[in-house]
Amino acid sequence: MKSIYITTPIYYVNAKPHIGHAYTTIVCDVFARLCRMLGYDVKLSTGTDEHGKKIEQSASNSGIEPQKFADDISKIFRDLLPILNITNDDFIRTTEPRHKKTVKHFWKILKEKGYIYLGEYSGWYDIRNEAYFDESELVDGKSPLGGEVQFLTEACYFFKLSAFGDRLLKFYEENTEFIYPVQRKNEIISFINRGLKDLAISRTTFNWGVPVPDDPKHVVYVWLDALTNYLTVNGYPENEDQNNDKYWQNVIHFVGKEIVRFHALYWPAFLMAANIIPPKQIVSHGWWLSEGEKMSKSLGNVQDPVKYCKLFGSDALRYFVLRELSFGSDGNFSLSGFIGRYNSILANAYGNLCSRVFSLVKKNCNGHIKRPSDTLKEEDTSFITGVDTSVQEAISLAKKYAFSRYLEKIEYATSLANQYVDFQKPWALKETNPKRMQDILFILVEQIYKITKMLYPVIPIAAEKILKHINPTYELKIEDDEKLQDSVDIGELEMLFPKIDAKDGGLDVFTDD
Ligand code: MSP
Repeated sequence: MKSIYITTPIYYVNAKPHIGHAYTTIVCDVFARLCRMLGYDVKLSTGTDEHGKKIEQSASNSGIEPQKFADDISKIFRDLLPILNITNDDFIRTTEPRHKKTVKHFWKILKEKGYIYLGEYSGWYDIRNEAYFDESELVDGKSPLGGEVQFLTEACYFFKLSAFGDRLLKFYEENTEFIYPVQRKNEIISFINRGLKDLAISRTTFNWGVPVPDDPKHVVYVWLDALTNYLTVNGYPENEDQNNDKYWQNVIHFVGKEIVRFHALYWPAFLMAANIIPPKQIVSHGWWLSEGEKMSKSLGNVQDPVKYCKLFGSDALRYFVLRELSFGSDGNFSLSGFIGRYNSILANAYGNLCSRVFSLVKKNCNGHIKRPSDTLKEEDTSFITGVDTSVQEAISLAKKYAFSRYLEKIEYATSLANQYVDFQKPWALKETNPKRMQDILFILVEQIYKITKMLYPVIPIAAEKILKHINPTYELKIEDDEKLQDSVDIGELEMLFPKIDAKDGGLDVFTDD
């Protein structure tokens, strides 16, 4: 069995999760469920990134100890997972002892191999905001954050990043799919071509972090700490031989576009320095915008995923975010867009198809249908071929992370099924040709089954109900030649996607457009 290790970034605990964070996690879960259906042994991890100046400051602004502050917000991220219906195998916190141990070990290895040295860091220091800036970043002699600056020099550990430019370029050349999409790769390559400087990987201006081994005045730079989570989850250092580990050999990091550089440049360089093979792929997505700006707490334009799940269910939210954003590009999140897609696709096209067909089987065939015994008509085979082709195309698109286009193919297959019902009018054949009516309904139920399997990774709750309704012994596997048993017993099914009336009282909880 092939193995795959899928990771979300670990989320900062300086604020509660919003739709942007939920999106990365949902994408990873959909991909993980699809991989399981394709026969992979999957490890899916997520977690929280809890160290660093920003968190220390947020905690002190709230008058709380950093650990307590991190505990509270990390719990909110963790509690969101069942609400979004995420099938993660691990939840890692950077404040856990297992992680701190891994970071210290990893540091020691980099040091032993000669890639860490003690040097001096100089720059214009904004005392109020405790951050360094280059001369070129200053605005009217002050820091870009408005604070008074002074030129400071402090002791600092460096990682010899400058030694990795050529190795990284060679690695990208040999692994053409490493950075996805390719446009992001060009950005990284030009960054390297401008010349790599050594990277400051310790700080002495705050304490909230993993102490540097043998020099605890310093704490480990938060990105070195955070990236190492992927090794902690994979059992390092006890599981020492990562290069022969079945998960590590096929690890895919999903990230937002703003953190590609950390994952596609710093991370492989750290790993190369430790003689550990770089990840298989860095897959990056775009941003959810609200009125043209990145959704973020500081701009006050965030959408709360929990509200959407409570009102419309996690399936509906998962479907919307995957379908609406063309993976890799930015997109706008709006309540009107959400309701539009929900009503037209889940309630009307797919939901109605299922209830229409199931209730005809119940009413006109006493809930019992059999595989047609005669040769199929031309219109039947062209419908079936249309569905099969769309399903095949959908799978290849999903494997390439084109999630919106994957759902578009499934929507197309659904529209073929609706056209087939409208055209064949099985209800009108009850008296005149009951056998043909039964054949048509069987063909429809079998196509609904295939379509539903393809929808399972995105809308798992509804899909499992429908699959079970049609075939109590269904398996969550994608078969080359998907078929139902020759005889099917089904009844009516509760309405899974009731239409949303935009004027519903419940919607006034939103302050959307
Ligand atoms: N802690 C780092 C990641 C360390 S991974 C070793 C971090 N955290 S974050 O909380 O700021 O962001 C985590 C993820 O959420 C990123 O992939 C980021 O792109 C995603 N999103 C945060 N806001 C977003 C949107 N508005 N839209 C889409 N995703 C965005 O970076």
